[in-house]
Order: sequence, then structure tokens, then C-alpha cells
Amino acid sequence: MAQVKFFSGEQIPLEMHKVRIVQKLSLPPVEERLEAITAAGNNTFLLQNKDVFMDMLTDSGVNAMSDQQMAAMMVADDSYAGSATYTRLESKLQDIFGMQFFLPTHQGRACENILAQVFVTPGSIVPMNYHFTTTKAHITVNGGTVEEIIADKGLEVTSVDPFKGDMDIDKLEALIAKNGADKIAFVRMEAGTNLIGGQPFSLQNLCDIRRVCDQHGVLLVMDASLLADNLYFNKTREASCKDLSIREITRKLADCCDIIYFSARKLGCARGGGICIRNEELYRRMRGLVPLYEGFLTYGGMSVREMEAITVGLEETMDEDMISQGPQFIAYMVDELQKRGIPVITPAGGLGCHVDVMRFLDHVPQSQYPAGALASALYIISGVRGMERGTLSEQREPDGSEVFSNMELVRLAMPRRVFTLSQVKYAIDRIDWLYQNRKLVEGLVFTEEPEILRFFYGRLAPVSDWQQKLVAKFRADFGDSL
Ligand code: F0G
Repeated sequence: MAQVKFFSGEQIPLEMHKVRIVQKLSLPPVEERLEAITAAGNNTFLLQNKDVFMDMLTDSGVNAMSDQQMAAMMVADDSYAGSATYTRLESKLQDIFGMQFFLPTHQGRACENILAQVFVTPGSIVPMNYHFTTTKAHITVNGGTVEEIIADKGLEVTSVDPFKGDMDIDKLEALIAKNGADKIAFVRMEAGTNLIGGQPFSLQNLCDIRRVCDQHGVLLVMDASLLADNLYFNKTREASCKDLSIREITRKLADCCDIIYFSARKLGCARGGGICIRNEELYRRMRGLVPLYEGFLTYGGMSVREMEAITVGLEETMDEDMISQGPQFIAYMVDELQKRGIPVITPAGGLGCHVDVMRFLDHVPQSQYPAGALASALYIISGVRGMERGTLSEQREPDGSEVFSNMELVRLAMPRRVFTLSQVKYAIDRIDWLYQNRKLVEGLVFTEEPEILRFFYGRLAPVSDWQQKLVAKFRADFGDSL
């Protein structure tokens, strides 16, 4: 995919697939979009899909599937116990990661539930490059604390550093020295670090962490949900991986880990999840929770059809053409936005394009959820559904005070192989217009605030009539265009 050059000199990502099944979209007029977001409490999670033109909320469970995946779904072996489908999935994971044991789950956070219940006890610590929302919730619910020890470069919004997802090894050593290894439940490394803009870690960094874990007898767990993107960046940005195949890089990363878990809503382009384990004793400690929460050991809450699709999807993930589609579309969008002076996270990562709202809406205070306000505004003026990834996605402290997020982002996810380039150009065009009119956008306040994971179903209202003004300006500039 990367190698095709255009005679014109333009740099355009070229799809190495063709579209054979389509889904019709609609784009309601701007006035109706304002009504829809108002009904959704200004929370893009609560919009109805029928009102959404480009769904850039997430890449979770919405990646395009291949013909081979669909075909495999037809030969799925439906049975409660001992399904041949399960055996195929287990063998594929053994083949790719080189770990003998596997526990199936219905999705990624179910793995986190099991890991946290087994390894996290009150007072224990989980060092990680960066948290993910559901990961942190499971760890804290079990009495543990999360220590984010991302290298300082990871929090620099604009950078040319290729591996902003790296952990700071000195901080890891200091943390273990201060608290003692027995307090560390496990070290967690998240591939394609989600909340800081889909940024990868290097193979070198993971090897260094392994060395520290070996010195102190600490477990190393990888969250491989966004591994496909991380692998692409290892291959294209890390000199030592340049001549390795994606499969070889995968194995080198896996060799550093004791446990690998993943959401197959992302990795493998289907729906499900699972935990791969190197050591039988650890496997036995976790195994009992699978029938309790998920389902029997040979399906773990997944449909057999999805398990077949994951098996094929995992194999397809070993193909560089396949995994490069997402990052290359994202790089295109990031470059085009940057050319227009629009603040975005750089370098372009995986998962999606991340708009830097601290700079986009520098007049909206963090206490008024600028990233939530921008996600709402963007939907109103374009029908594009993004996701708030900022203070709204944080949890309040036990005393009720706000935790202001390190970054205020609107994430525009690029589900793999779903959008065409003209749709991406439309999104760029509307973001450009919104940037020119950014002073019209103001903040939001909660009208309904759930205690746990409030961003999923909390409801908010605008602090003034700014949304009506935005609609009026849209009409003035675009006439009768949708
Ligand atoms: N870990 C990471 C890094 C994730 O990005 C996600 C989900 C999970 C774990 C949980 O997996 O959804 O299957 O339970 N991320 C989705 C997102 C929700 O939109 O970023 P899950």
C-alpha cells in the first residue's frame, strides 16, 4: 500500500481492497442534527446511528470484514463444548503469539475484569504506559491504583517522536524500588496507546521493560487491542524491525510478555476477546472466572461465527497491506488538517485522527468540557460523530473534585477499510470550517452525571445558545447544502 507513487506527486493512500458490500448513509439537515444532539444530551454516545453520516466514534466492532472472514463464518461449528471453531481460534493464537494457553471472553474489558479480579488486591499498583478507561475502572474497583509512567514525550501533543507510547524505564525502576515488587500486581503495556492519540511503543522499550520485570519477578501484560497499528509502526519506524515480517515482529513483542489480552472488536476486525497466557499456573488461576462471567471455556461469550471471523482476521493482521490501511488514512487526514493550521496530535498514530482541543478551543475552560463541546459542535455542522477523550472521560476524585485530563481530544476514529477518501475529505472540509468559526463554540455543563464511566451515558447542556448561533452561521455560509 505504501509503495504506490502517483505520477502527479500527490500523496494519496491507495486502497488494496475493493468494496463489495455497502451500507446506505443519510445526512440529515443541520437543523435536524441540532435536534438530534440535543436529544442525545450533547453526548455523541447517545446519538442514534440513523442520524449519523460518518461514524467516527470508534473502531470497535465496526471495522470492515473481508470476504474470507464472512466465508469462514458460514463454516462455524456451533456447539457449547468442544467446538472445532474454538480449536481453530486457539491454534491461531498459539501460532501467532507462541503462548500455550487461551481463555476466551466476550470483549476486551471482560479480560480486564478477570485480570483485575485475580491479580489486583487492595493496595496493589499497576504501572502502565497509559490507562484506558475500562482498564482503570476495573483496577480501581478491585482496590488497586494505576500508575501512568509514560515517557515524557508521550504527553507532548505535537512531536516527531516515533514511539510516544513508550514507558519511562527509570520511572518503572523507581516505582518498584519505592513500593516493593510484591505490591506490583503486574506491569501493563498498551499497544497503540489509545488515550494519547493511538501512539505506539517500540519493541526496544518492551524488551527493556521485560528486563526490569525479570529482575524483580514482576508479570508483564500487554493489552494488544490496538496491536495491528503498533505493528505497522514498529515495521515502518523502528530500524531493527525494518527487515522483519509482521509475523516476526508480533512474535518478538509476544516473547516479552507473560500475558496478552485483546479486544477482538479491534484486533482481528470482528467481535470478541481473549487472554493468552504463557504459564499454566497463571492460566489456572484465571480459568474459573470464564464460566462464571463469560460462558463455557470453548466460547467465552462469543458466537462461534465471530470466533471464526477473528481467526481469519488475526491471520489477515499479519499482512502489511491490511494493517497499513488505517494508519495511512489517518496520516492523510492529519497532514491535511495540519496544512490548514488545525491543531492535531502528531505524529499521526493509529486508531484515528485526534484533534487537540486545548488549542482548537483555547477559550473554553476544562471545567466546561471543551472536547465534549467540540464533539457536539462537529456533529451539528457535519453529521460526523467523534468521541470526547478528555476531562469528561475521567472519573472524579472520591471527594468529588474534577480530574482535569492531560489532554483534551476529539477522536475521529478511522474504522479499518470503512470510509472512502472523499468521505475523509468531507470531514476535513467541515473541520476546517469549524476551525474558522471556533469562537462560536462554548462549553457544556452536566445535567445528569453517572458515577462510573460517566462519558458513556451522562447528559450535558450548552452553557448558552451557542449551538443556535453555530447553525445560523452554517446556513449563512452553506446555503441549502446539507
Ligand atoms: N483496551 C483498549 C486499549 C481499548 O481501546 C479498549 C476499547 C479496551 C481495552 C476494551 O475493549 O471495548 O472490547 O471491551 N476501546 C474502545 C474504543 C471501546 O472505542 O476505544 P472492549
